[in-house]
Amino acid sequence: MAVINLRALQADHRPRLALSDEVHGLDAVARAQDTVVSGRRAAALDAARIVLPLGRMPETSRSESGADRAETGCYLALRDAAPPQFRVDRRLPRPNNGRGKSPKSASLCRPVNQGRVVNRPEESEMINPKVKCLIAAGWFALVACSPAYAQERTPAKRFNLVEWNGGKFVYGADYYPEHWDESQWAKDAEMMQAAGMNFVRLAEFAWVKMEPAEGKFDFAWLDRALKVLNAHGIKAVLGTPTASPPAWLYAKYPDIAAMDENGVHYRYGSRGNFCLHNPSFNAATRRIVTAMAEHYKNHPGVIGWQIDNELGDPACYDAVCRAAFQRWCRSKYKSLDALNKAWGTIFWGHTYLAWSEIPLPWNTLGKAHNPSLALDHRRFHSEATRDYLKLQVDILRRISPKQAITHNLMGMYDGVDYSRLAEPLDFIAWDNYPMFGENYANYFGPGLAHDLMRGAKNNQNFMVMEEQGGLPGWSEFWGRQAAPGLYRAWAYQAIAHGADGICYFRWRTSRYGTEQYWQGILDQDSYPNARYQIVAQTGKELGRLTDLLKGSTVASKVALLVSPDSRWAFHIQPLVKDFDYNRQLSLYYGAFRRAGHNVDVLFPQSDFAGYKLIVAPSLFVVDTKLAGKLTNFVKDGGTLVLTYRSGVKDENNVVTNRTLPGPLAELTGIVIHDFDPQTDQKQEVEDPQGDRYPAKVWFDILDPTFAETLATYGNSYYAGKAAVTRNHFGGGSVIYVGTEFASEDAYSKLARYLAPRTDMRLDSDLPEGVELAWREKGGKKIVFLINYTEKSQTVSLGESMQNALTGNVEPAQVELPAFDVKVLTAK
Ligand code: GLA
Repeated sequence: MAVINLRALQADHRPRLALSDEVHGLDAVARAQDTVVSGRRAAALDAARIVLPLGRMPETSRSESGADRAETGCYLALRDAAPPQFRVDRRLPRPNNGRGKSPKSASLCRPVNQGRVVNRPEESEMINPKVKCLIAAGWFALVACSPAYAQERTPAKRFNLVEWNGGKFVYGADYYPEHWDESQWAKDAEMMQAAGMNFVRLAEFAWVKMEPAEGKFDFAWLDRALKVLNAHGIKAVLGTPTASPPAWLYAKYPDIAAMDENGVHYRYGSRGNFCLHNPSFNAATRRIVTAMAEHYKNHPGVIGWQIDNELGDPACYDAVCRAAFQRWCRSKYKSLDALNKAWGTIFWGHTYLAWSEIPLPWNTLGKAHNPSLALDHRRFHSEATRDYLKLQVDILRRISPKQAITHNLMGMYDGVDYSRLAEPLDFIAWDNYPMFGENYANYFGPGLAHDLMRGAKNNQNFMVMEEQGGLPGWSEFWGRQAAPGLYRAWAYQAIAHGADGICYFRWRTSRYGTEQYWQGILDQDSYPNARYQIVAQTGKELGRLTDLLKGSTVASKVALLVSPDSRWAFHIQPLVKDFDYNRQLSLYYGAFRRAGHNVDVLFPQSDFAGYKLIVAPSLFVVDTKLAGKLTNFVKDGGTLVLTYRSGVKDENNVVTNRTLPGPLAELTGIVIHDFDPQTDQKQEVEDPQGDRYPAKVWFDILDPTFAETLATYGNSYYAGKAAVTRNHFGGGSVIYVGTEFASEDAYSKLARYLAPRTDMRLDSDLPEGVELAWREKGGKKIVFLINYTEKSQTVSLGESMQNALTGNVEPAQVELPAFDVKVLTAK
């Protein structure tokens, strides 16, 4: 047994308190983190003895056994967790004396800052017996037992945002008091309250203001801002400010900046520029998050936390990340033989004989990468992002377990597997900017993103942390201004899709910095403009709707299956230049929405039970587990839609040696011996009614084994061959669509064929630019009809309904004025 002694001395080198417990293995890592992470504990600690299972501390680049890895893990945890005034060294233990006694202590953690250690209030506190006891009980146990975490782990118990916000529908703005003169704060709070707001997000870029020098904290300004806001009935989520580290941190630790694929550090001046694995950055993160949590854990006006801001990019290519990737590979594959086999590294003779040889997918000649390595790197980066989020979550759970934790995700962004990132959070929040599209009548983009966000946490309601409050733009304005009514329409769209909170970005357009052209609700002059008026109208309406909405959820029978592995694999090898995975999702999504269906989004690990129809476009990467789940879904009576390039790759991003569609061949009742990637030729697909639809991008030429042919190709040497098939399998059926249609009509027809009846008794597709979506509570529907166009529209609902906003009865033929919204319930 190796013994690593952690000696954390005070600046004056005089120990205050001795603590010499022995802990083992993984628990040692947890204990070490817990001990070192808090400046208070570290300063009060003389020596904690960490016992690890092996006798050597390995070089990270060296070939390691599993047990060595545990040591390395512990070392890295210690190193990452240590406050900046300490340095953690590795020391070989003295040889065991053979009598089973631990070697004498070696100092592994000692002060490097010989100057004045900033006098934090917590440093004067001694570790008390209760805390010691809690440490011994284990950090993991603490985290697992916190009420909010327990809630997350029990799917039946869903986080209720309205309850969390004291019974009010969460409604507010992202507010930056630090950008404005303090004399403006009270007026801002008054205007917010007058607009029906009860919520703000604060501080997510204010690190330098809260920690103006290393270890020196100032929360007085934020306390004052909270006081003003709270006095107007406004509660806050605080952002941990790690997306924008202070200039002093980069000056002191230049390596915290992420490195690009060419080996160059991104320069200071933007934001989000950090290396997830950098020990100094992780230590700085722990310090600021701990300090914020300690300061605000009992603040009645702070109801929760947002971790960082839009985590995901950039991936970092520095030596620390490379070593971390090598460790990740080693932990996944256990042996180099297994890795070489899984990645097929014999191709071009890229076989690795040492873990340290494994590269990152950086700037190679011709940008050539082994696709298996590249897919694993995406997974690694996604997990590292989640680990970084979790690092912060764990601190907050431990210190302030009563406050909820979220993160602001980015909808369709796919650099991170959001279904995994969401796991440690109480609820998902996301940033909704519908004005990135030019055609505001096309509501499918934000609609799909809302549904994906809901799906990323098992269909639990979410909130929008940044709802578009004005025209976007950085160095120039992007797009065109939206009619004021659209800002209301988009808020209701979010709610219809499961949002229990709307927070506009931002309260007021900035006078300074990169985002001078990114409009808030107010402009710099604070005039209560048309956007403010419509936001205020919406706020008042939501106050009236809260009781109705509280506890309602989105119910759908149709679902889209999103495969993060397939999306990444297509990024790595895009197939043909026009291929776009997200466009395929939207084409099917739009068709079901036009037909009046609610649509859920599933991930491979989601529960498929209860759905009638699952559409899994271009399911490129399929492992046996997913193939088995889909088979069971169909056997149990479900309808599955698969599209071109399905079943091509295994989980290692290696092409199957089975006849396509590989593991899905039996299910689909077809085989594919030939395909035709997009060419200049015109292709069409003809259905049994003789309707012909243009097709593009890719043509799988289908040979039915058991399936029936639903449509055939119209041109080329494979004219007359199957393009769309249906196979009955068990109690259900599988549709395979071998191409992408270049016409929405084809998708609409397919959607009507697949799901002829919606829950809404619509007799035809909805008018263009009109959305219908609903939530349910106690078996009753709350229907949202939204008109995104500038003309009046009529929708035939088949029954008259009660208008929850006006109290009036709406006829079965509902008239929707331009940009208007109706919230309807059964009479
Ligand atoms: C993102 C960020 C915000 C802001 C807006 C506008 O959504 O989270 O901080 O920068 O974009 O640029």
